[in-house]
Amino acid sequence: MPAVRMSDQEFRVISEFIHQTWGLKMPPAKRVMLESRLSKRLNRLGLTTFKEYTEYLFSPLGLENELVHMIDVVSTNKTDFFREPGAFTYMSQHILPEMIAGRGAGVKKRLMVWSTACSTGEEPYTLAMVLSEFSEKYPGFGFDYFILATDVSRKVLDKAQRAVYEHERVEAIPFDLRRKFLMKSKDPTQRLYRVVPELRSRIRFRHMNLMEDFGLREPMDLIFCRNVIIYFERETQAGLLKRLCDQIVDGGYMIMGHSETLNGMNLPLVSVAPMIYRKVA
Ligand SMILES: C[S@@+](CC[C@H](N)C(=O)[O-])C[C@H]1O[C@@H](n2cnc3c(N)ncnc32)[C@H](O)[C@@H]1O
Repeated sequence: MPAVRMSDQEFRVISEFIHQTWGLKMPPAKRVMLESRLSKRLNRLGLTTFKEYTEYLFSPLGLENELVHMIDVVSTNKTDFFREPGAFTYMSQHILPEMIAGRGAGVKKRLMVWSTACSTGEEPYTLAMVLSEFSEKYPGFGFDYFILATDVSRKVLDKAQRAVYEHERVEAIPFDLRRKFLMKSKDPTQRLYRVVPELRSRIRFRHMNLMEDFGLREPMDLIFCRNVIIYFERETQAGLLKRLCDQIVDGGYMIMGHSETLNGMNLPLVSVAPMIYRKVA
């Protein structure tokens, strides 16, 4: 079915709405993608023009029911287990020992980690594997941790919560960790794996739009904010990162994606390694 045509005015209105609601950039280069993907929504709704679609979108019914679908049309959910693995190695080898020695984080009080745009769950489950391995390696510490994993898309959060992944997805996990932390489907015709309950119980998945108040009471020791700010304008990035910094304890860490730079943003962070920043008072 061919895409429905979107006028310049309709593109301006819709892209501005997306920007205002989720902070996502919608430059003219994305117009064809938006037109084609939203055309499928029009079809589903039995609408034939973008005029009808915008009328629906801005009606009380549309604002209530359409946003949950629209975010999946406009956002990128690409993720992997052990994505940009240097960050996890650095966390185990440097951050955790330093935090335990310094503030007793994870020992006197459980370590709080936040995966801010967790997509389908690969990032928080990777974190849980690495943190559990660390805890086992040093049983004397009595190391304890908790992971908050948030995303604005309900669809990815549902998948994350199910914790079921195809064979190709789990291949990025080192073999010994796969054996330890994944259960294979009993049905031999399905090459599916589920994360073990012990790791699942360490993570709380929650719906959150990072453009809104986080509503979190507990401060975080570590925040993973990877591969999400690239979709925001620089001003939006700086505003979000300032609020995230307020959520980190002094001496805590912010972990970014490898293509995301915080240069010139005037944040209370110092760079300690590629992708890794420590919060300073
Ligand atoms: C490319 S994925 C990154 C996943 C993971 N952090 C990683 O690095 O592999 C980006 C995620 O950001 C989420 N996202 C986009 N805008 C958001 C917003 N305003 N608030 C919260 N999450 C958002 C998307 O739904 C998507 O799942």
